[in-house]
Amino acid sequence: MTEFSPRYLKDYQAPDYKISNVNLTIQLDDTKTIVTNVMDVTKASEHQRALVLDGEHMQLKSVMVNDTKLDRSQYQLSDSTLSIANLPEQFILTITTEINPVANTALEGLYKSADVYCTQCEAEGFRRITYFLDRPDVMAIYTTKIIADKTSFPFLLANGNKIEQGELANNLHFVTWHDPFPKPCYLFALVAGDFELLTDTFTTKSGREVNLELFVDKGNLSRSEHAMASLKKSMLWDEQQFNLEYDLDIYMIVAVDFFNMGAMENKGLNVFNSKFVLADDLSATDDDFFNVEAVIAHEYFHNWTGNRVTCRDWFQLSLKEGLTVFRDQQFSADMHSSAVTRIKNVKIVRAQQFAEDAGPMAHPIRPEKVMEMNNFYTLTVYEKGSEVIRMMHTILGDDAFKAGIELYFERHDGQAVTCDDFVAAMSDASNTCLSQFKYWYSQSGTPVLIVSDDYHEETNTYQLTIEQSHPQTHDKQEKQNLHIPVNFELISNDENDNQQGLLHCKQQKQTWTFENVSSKPVPALLGNFSAPVKLNYHYDDQALNTLMVNAADEFNRWDAGQKLFAGYIKQLINNPELELPLQVASALEQVLLSNADNAFKAEQLVLPSFDEMAAAIDEVNSGALVRAISILKRFIAQQLQSHFLHTYQSLCTSEFAKDGQAIGNRALKNVCLDYLALLDSANELALNQFKQANNMTDQLAAIKVAAVNDLRCFEDVMVEFARQWQGNTLVMDKWFTINALHNNENVVQRIIGLLEHPEFSIDNPNRARALIGAFAFYNSKYFHHQDGSGYEFLFAQLVKLNTINPQVASRLITPLIQFKSFDKTQQKLMKAELEKLSRLDNLSRDLIEKLDAALQ
Ligand code: TRP
Ligand code: ZN
Repeated sequence: MTEFSPRYLKDYQAPDYKISNVNLTIQLDDTKTIVTNVMDVTKASEHQRALVLDGEHMQLKSVMVNDTKLDRSQYQLSDSTLSIANLPEQFILTITTEINPVANTALEGLYKSADVYCTQCEAEGFRRITYFLDRPDVMAIYTTKIIADKTSFPFLLANGNKIEQGELANNLHFVTWHDPFPKPCYLFALVAGDFELLTDTFTTKSGREVNLELFVDKGNLSRSEHAMASLKKSMLWDEQQFNLEYDLDIYMIVAVDFFNMGAMENKGLNVFNSKFVLADDLSATDDDFFNVEAVIAHEYFHNWTGNRVTCRDWFQLSLKEGLTVFRDQQFSADMHSSAVTRIKNVKIVRAQQFAEDAGPMAHPIRPEKVMEMNNFYTLTVYEKGSEVIRMMHTILGDDAFKAGIELYFERHDGQAVTCDDFVAAMSDASNTCLSQFKYWYSQSGTPVLIVSDDYHEETNTYQLTIEQSHPQTHDKQEKQNLHIPVNFELISNDENDNQQGLLHCKQQKQTWTFENVSSKPVPALLGNFSAPVKLNYHYDDQALNTLMVNAADEFNRWDAGQKLFAGYIKQLINNPELELPLQVASALEQVLLSNADNAFKAEQLVLPSFDEMAAAIDEVNSGALVRAISILKRFIAQQLQSHFLHTYQSLCTSEFAKDGQAIGNRALKNVCLDYLALLDSANELALNQFKQANNMTDQLAAIKVAAVNDLRCFEDVMVEFARQWQGNTLVMDKWFTINALHNNENVVQRIIGLLEHPEFSIDNPNRARALIGAFAFYNSKYFHHQDGSGYEFLFAQLVKLNTINPQVASRLITPLIQFKSFDKTQQKLMKAELEKLSRLDNLSRDLIEKLDAALQ
């Protein structure tokens, strides 16, 4: 099947040539954009090797070395390269190419998003704009002249500072931008369009005034304020926490509707998926507001961790992504409840990253082998990468960690470096040996900690033994023991005996002895989720109850509840008749009656998700898992009905507010609704909430419970919702998603019908993810239906997406390639669809890499 070959980290070689200046002139046109690229090139060492430039999906118009135009015999052209031999030590290379932005549905390189021209160059999209050494260790200074029609494209933007503009014949105009900071080409950006503009300023701590400019589609200005406020908070936070100040005089953000990912940190000109910019009280949920702020922060933080110091090669992606995710998580934790923020992070790691590590695409946070780089913007590189940074923070402590960051910038500002360089700075600044810790960078898989303990009454001592185990991963890698930081608490009958601290697990098996422990304590381990590992220790219900109430660490209190639920869900899988003890419900009754804040209570009441459970069990029968979760949920709903109703009613207020408390109130209220929706009054409650809602969080919660419980009002509220929100792209995405979650036999037919809906378009990644992705990722019951119809549906969509947008196809194939976590019958059905896919002609490199791994 394979016709593309992988690249290996071990084969890294420094570039043969350097490009110090790039002078681009881009004359925009829908189908024939002309790019003239004038480069200052020098040999990096004395050698006679040819210059081999990357380039794809373009027409080469001309090549000039200094003043001489080359003829066809003086260079070699392949599908993906342009080679020129016999070059001098130093020369000016001028390359002219023609590209077709409208035909570019892959959304890599220069493309058109509705009426806007924009670029996406990370990871390897610049090679679709011009021939270049498209690798992050080639850093140049860019000057970009953009020419376009003045009426349709009044705004012409690129990186850096505007240095010139003017009018040309035929209603054309031009703007020239200069970015003084050398950068790799993946940070290049260009945007042209007609926008509404929100402007503001930020004065840095050294007193420089930075212009902040946010560009949105006409009519969306009122939805852009939250993003601007978030940007200013991010700038201030980075100064206060890390002493990092913005470096240009202008920071621009453009929101576009067609975008493969969340957003992109192009130097001085971020391009965002409009989903992570636009938000207002009526149309955005509390989660949307949270996510906009987090993504704005993430991209802003990249200016230092990513742009000023970038990656030597793409195997080092986690150098910038893991670190920047850690920074945005810390920022969010400071802006909101830190416990609830941490719980949200952990759920993603446990449900999705653990599944990735257990599946065919398992890779270390620093991969060693890559076929298509776009396939490695993964939960492992991002989220586990962030956990690895967080472990260093835990091991070194905040002060030493910050000293490490300072040393990192002192050594590497302006450079393209490796993960090893980062760890070296951390280690040197703190005088801490991190050599064993570094295996976290090279080792895939989720470690399991097997814990046992012993209490000796005679000596008042308690012994805790932790054994590391490293399950085999799909990449068949040999495993090393890791340095694993384990936060612990020992909870005793007598509160005064409680102990807490940090254990450093380094050996395969290690025992710690604690003195002066007057009764057998309950150990709470991995507080604040101090390491991305699974824990294997037998807690009985009573111990979990103790932790839920008495653990000092809020994460531990939450996690104990999750363990309690997970234990019963596992039992219910094999024995749906199991009689559930009232204790399960009474533990939650305590939660409801406690005086914790409501956002935290809401998290405590939510059962582990299907994905989280699936990642924790071998060969799941998905039907049995869906049923087990719903039995437990119904039992809790019945037992606590009056509490849920009382809490629900007490939280139904008429005024809308957006402070932390109001957000927590809504979260708790909607969790109560979620339980109550399983009982008699469900339809009335949902319908009522839908009608009364004065904000999107409540409105969406209402239609969601109607969908996932197939309530009588479902069709009506969906019609009403669509009528209210038609034309609002971001809200209609939510509507498509709710359709995909319908808990009904006919859901696949419904979705197939919606593919023809006038507002649906498979070309738009947000739309494709909202409908097709939501079904495959979140409607576990019908995606995994035993008749295979869910798998077959996904197959049919992947066939289309493979040619339209390989990146989107490659993300949406995820639930299918993880077939090994399901039972044999399901595995067979899933594999059959993958095999059908693998037989297609024209398979993209993205899908080939994943299919190869999955079917191997
Ligand atoms: N660097 C971007 C981020 O994490 C990721 C990104 C945006 C990206 N767009 C992309 C990666 C397209 C691959 C392809 O903030
Ligand atoms: Zn990033």
